[in-house]
Amino acid sequence: MKHAPYSDRRRRVCERLGDGVAIIPTAPERLRNRDAHYPYRFDSYFWYLSGFPEPEAVLVLIGGSEARSILFCREKSEEREIWDGFRYGPTSAAQAFGFSEAWPISELASRLPQLLAKRNTLWHSLGHDAEWDRRLGEALAALRADNRNGQQAPGEIRDLHGLLDEMRLCKDSHELDCMQRAADIAAAGHARAMRACRPGMAEYELEAELSYEFRRRGASGHAYTPIVAGGVNACILHYVANDKLLSGHALVLIDAGCEIEGYASDITRTFPVAGRFSAEQRAVYEIVLAAQAAAIAAIRPGARFADYHHAAVRVLCQGLIDLGLLTGTVDAAIESEAYKPYYMHRTGHWLGLDVHDAGAYRTGSGDDDWVILTPGMTLTVEPGLYLRPSDKVPEHLHGIGVRIEDDVLVTSAGSLVYTHAPRTVGEIEEVMHHE
Ligand code: GLY
Ligand code: MN
Ligand code: MN
Repeated sequence: MKHAPYSDRRRRVCERLGDGVAIIPTAPERLRNRDAHYPYRFDSYFWYLSGFPEPEAVLVLIGGSEARSILFCREKSEEREIWDGFRYGPTSAAQAFGFSEAWPISELASRLPQLLAKRNTLWHSLGHDAEWDRRLGEALAALRADNRNGQQAPGEIRDLHGLLDEMRLCKDSHELDCMQRAADIAAAGHARAMRACRPGMAEYELEAELSYEFRRRGASGHAYTPIVAGGVNACILHYVANDKLLSGHALVLIDAGCEIEGYASDITRTFPVAGRFSAEQRAVYEIVLAAQAAAIAAIRPGARFADYHHAAVRVLCQGLIDLGLLTGTVDAAIESEAYKPYYMHRTGHWLGLDVHDAGAYRTGSGDDDWVILTPGMTLTVEPGLYLRPSDKVPEHLHGIGVRIEDDVLVTSAGSLVYTHAPRTVGEIEEVMHHE
């Protein structure tokens, strides 16, 4: 059944709610300007437990002996469907998505107090959305006001996101399948941009190649605003203007991934605009590539989340010493953080429904209190070096910015890199070689 992965997750959540009730709203539609909306994107937590794509929907999960799932959604409407397209309506939604019950969203406010009544715990993430905090506050107040009739509000409110974040850290086979498809399409987009690249093009022309490949292959679009950064723009970490011309002497850095059934891929490639690395560009590139290889080798079950960052930093520091940008030993550079002007971000993050996915990184505030890697976790490995022009950087290295980013699954044997875009100097030059 198509809804099986989602109903299985709901069942697992219900088992953990105790005698409680969880309220999980999806994201609202948001206005872009006047009456035009941003493209709709559901809430990731709601999607994780429902697979239901429409706005104006709320999932209610009841734990304990009466465990069940209830969807509130928009009603069928001939008028609205003429303007906006198909909507399921409660009856077909319950059938198609496997909910125990479904009701019109217009009945939520009147039904909410009864759903909360006599439950010990309300599971919700307070402070996430002020409007929902208010609505739940009102439902609780209505119950308390009715206590002479035997009504009782939950005595405890617990953080639902904490529970779901823990589940979302380890991906199930349905999620891994979506993520592999998102990775394959993003890799094809990067290869397409490499093949299309010519000196004198604008950065946005390469962005268009990626967008075309993503949509052509059925992705819903970009998973985040893409970065196409020629030359020194690569040294601006969140460069998204993508509006400059590409010099034939420069590298271009592209950080772009797509979304499939809500799941993100996140790939960065850096390549020479004219198709051949110069000696300086190659020297920097090979250091970052070696740092990435060392980081990937440090990913295995039982390792701490920070270990692969430390492995990358070690190789980058040696590289910075070899390039003449740092002096002294690797240990001293790590200790003093002398590498930070050239490598100021961490080496990766969890990846999933959100590009910077849900899930804790630390288990406490101690230096070693990092989450331990476990099979099923997915993360990015994205070391870089950013040599902004300055009097500390030799002139022949000015403006070289390189990042290489791939997506990795923690497996029982170690790790699996599942993004397959051209990555080595040889692979990139071969793909870009055009008559
Ligand atoms: N594309 C966002 C990141 O690499 O973290
Ligand atoms: Mn990333
Ligand atoms: Mn990225």
